[in-house]
Amino acid sequence: MIVLGIESTCDETAAAVVRDGRDVLSHAIASSAEIHERYGGVFPELACRRHIDAIMPVIEEALETAQIGPEEIDLIAVAKGPGLVGALLIGMQAAKGLSIAWKKPLIGVNHVEAHLYAAMMGAPDPWPFPALGLVLSGGHTLLLKIEDVGNYQLIGTTVDDAVGEAFDKVATLLGLPYPGGPHVEELARGGNPKRFPFRAGRVKRSPFDFSFSGIKTSVLYAVREPSFSEQDRPDAAASFQEAALQDIVKKTELALRDGPVQAIYLGGGVCNNQRLRALFAERFSLPIFWPPTDMSADNAVMIAGLGFQKFLQCGKGDPLDLEVATRIPVA
Ligand code: KG4
Ligand code: ZN
Repeated sequence: MIVLGIESTCDETAAAVVRDGRDVLSHAIASSAEIHERYGGVFPELACRRHIDAIMPVIEEALETAQIGPEEIDLIAVAKGPGLVGALLIGMQAAKGLSIAWKKPLIGVNHVEAHLYAAMMGAPDPWPFPALGLVLSGGHTLLLKIEDVGNYQLIGTTVDDAVGEAFDKVATLLGLPYPGGPHVEELARGGNPKRFPFRAGRVKRSPFDFSFSGIKTSVLYAVREPSFSEQDRPDAAASFQEAALQDIVKKTELALRDGPVQAIYLGGGVCNNQRLRALFAERFSLPIFWPPTDMSADNAVMIAGLGFQKFLQCGKGDPLDLEVATRIPVA
C-alpha cells in the first residue's frame, strides 16, 4: 500500500511517500524556522502563510522523488493535530482536496503518536511490546506505556514547558539562535555540567510528571549575576542540559520498575541530542529505538507510516468532514 503523508502542525510543511508503513520512497520538508528566528519562537500567522505557499510544491516534490503518480497512491494520511489551528487547516484542506480529486481514501493521524511511530519504523517486526515510549519535542514531553500501536497509557507529562521548549528558552538566555536545542548541545560540549546546581522541578504527588520552567528561571538568575562571564556560558549550558536529561532518565528508570517491558521507543526533536542518546545507552540494557536523525523532528514520513497502520486497523479511511484539533490526547 502506497501512502502519501502530509504534515503541517507547526513550522514544517512536509510530504512523504511511504510503502507499507516502513519503506520510505520520499521525504520532502520546507521549514519556516528561519522566519521565526528573530521572534525566538514560532510566530503562528507567519507559519500559516508559509504553509500556504509551500504545501503544493512540497507534495509535488515528494511524488516526483518517489516517481509515483497520483494513480499509484492508495491512501492520503494527514496530521489532524495537535498543533497550531491555522497550520493544521492548510495540511488538512490540501489532503481533503487531493482525496476528492484523486478519489483516494483520507486518514487523519495524531502527530504526537506519529513521533513514536518514527522510532517503530526501524524496529523489528513484530514490534517488541509492551514498551515504554517517550516523546521529547518542542511542544510535548510524554512518558507512555505502549501496549500496541494505538494503545497507550499516559505515565507522565510536563506540567509547564516541554523539554525542547526549555532548551529553546535557555538558548535565548545564553544568546544562542532559535531553535536553540542543537546550539545548547554544542555549547555544552565544552562545559562543566557540575558547575551550576540546576535541577529539574519535582511535581508534588506526581513522580512521573515533568516540570522544566523552574530550571529555566534558575538559568536566568545565573546569567543575570554580575560575575557571569563569557567563560561561564558553556558551563551553564552543560549544567542545564545534564539536569534536564538526567531528569528524563530518572523518570524512565522509575517507570521501568513498574513492570517488565520489551523496549523503549523515543521520538521528537530532542532525540537528536547525543548526550541523551549516550545516557540512555549507558543506563538501560533493553533495546532502545531512536528515530533516524532526519525523522526526529517534524516530518511527513511518520504521518504516512502511522496512517498505513491506522488504515489497516480500521479497514477504512475517515469521512471528509474530518476536523483538525489543536489538542488531542494520545492516551
Ligand atoms: O519534534 P520537534 O520538531 O517539535 C515539535 O513537534 O514540537 O522538535 C523541535 C524541538 C526544538 O525545541 C529543538 O530545540 C529541539 O527539538 N531540539 C533539540 C536538539 N535538536 C532539536 N534539543 C536538544 N538537543 C538537540 N540536539
Ligand atoms: Zn512534532
